[in-house]
Amino acid sequence: METTSHTASDQERLIEASAQYLMNTYARHPVALVKGRGMRVWDMHGTEYLDFMSGIAVNALGHCHPKVVVALQKQAQRLLHVSNLFHIGPQTELGTLLVQRSFADKAFFCNSGTEAIEAAIKLARKYSKDTYGPDRYEIVAAHGSFHGRTMAALSATGQEKHRKGFGPMLQGFRFVPFNDISAMEEALGPHTCAVLLEPIQGEGGIHVADVTYLQQVRELCDRKEVLLIFDEIQTGIGRTGHLFAYELFNVIPDIMALAKGLGGGVAIGCLLAKARAASAFSPGSHGTTFGGNPLASAAALATLRHILEDDILLSNVRRMGEYLRNGLKSLAYNFAHLVATEPRGAGLLLGLPLKTDCAKVTRAALEAGLLLTCAGDNVLRFTPPLIVEEADIDEMLDRLSSALTRVGAA
Ligand SMILES: Cc1ncc(COP(=O)(O)O)c(C=O)c1O
Repeated sequence: METTSHTASDQERLIEASAQYLMNTYARHPVALVKGRGMRVWDMHGTEYLDFMSGIAVNALGHCHPKVVVALQKQAQRLLHVSNLFHIGPQTELGTLLVQRSFADKAFFCNSGTEAIEAAIKLARKYSKDTYGPDRYEIVAAHGSFHGRTMAALSATGQEKHRKGFGPMLQGFRFVPFNDISAMEEALGPHTCAVLLEPIQGEGGIHVADVTYLQQVRELCDRKEVLLIFDEIQTGIGRTGHLFAYELFNVIPDIMALAKGLGGGVAIGCLLAKARAASAFSPGSHGTTFGGNPLASAAALATLRHILEDDILLSNVRRMGEYLRNGLKSLAYNFAHLVATEPRGAGLLLGLPLKTDCAKVTRAALEAGLLLTCAGDNVLRFTPPLIVEEADIDEMLDRLSSALTRVGAA
């Protein structure tokens, strides 16, 4: 047990204050986490948890990685914020590195995933209007997709449960079944300006696109002169064992949205685009006060540099992804009464479809000292930090087995 300066009643008081003063937007676990190191976090009681969710696929290098902490400390002592009316060293360095290591020619920085999607939608519409005239504005997205909570990102999200109560949605979005190329071909009409897809649907339940499907979508977009936007907010920055998931599928988009793992735990979003599309933005057409600020950019730069160092981390993701997948296969066999199918996903973005209520399993896992999240319809999601080792996976499987045993017995 880790010692902290808090008492048990401090945690209870904090939980009560959250309920009283914060809006009721999250079904929070009854735990306040106060400290993290590598694969582990501690609550105010000093109880330790093994983290296989990484703040929902965010803490790519684990908690408080020394390189990220030092970069933040140094930058915090130098300069916190100046606005995008000036050149910002760490932002330019980050943009240079992302462009050099991707298909893109230009980067735009914002503060979250949903903002990166807003920027993608605006860029696609503006480029299409500039190039083809005012009638091409429609974005085709997939059923089961998740692109964020702001109004345009929500309008592009193909899950009714997230949109319910917030209508009317924005005009100009159309949905097709995921992995169905005929439906996509039929949907692309004279008003289409872009196709927006996650290479692996994350929040929707870890559904992996077929390689041929994405390749055919690419061909279709080329033929119809429609932009292809990938939402790599969850799949990007090493999560699949490649810096970007598009490399895994060998399909290059025109525009790509990033966030989550990019900042190593600090909020930052990014839009990458080929020069042709990027040229649609000019001074005044899009912006954000905090986007790519010195502090967030310094954290992201340290994170990205570490991930790219000698390919050590990316090959770890590939090896540990296989190890985790095999462990989950055995678990699925041993708990066949609770687990619906074998795991699916890529690298360290894996989902285990359950026959039981996923929230019950994550609650039991928490009690067993393990952090996990759910996705889609009762899919248990595994998104550990990319630094995870075999011993962590073994320990996670032990803790999850005891959690599943308790759920099965209840
Ligand atoms: C694929 C995808 N797109 C967009 C978002 C929205 O990102 P954010 O929560 O940073 O706004 C998420 C978040 O879960 C996501 O997984």
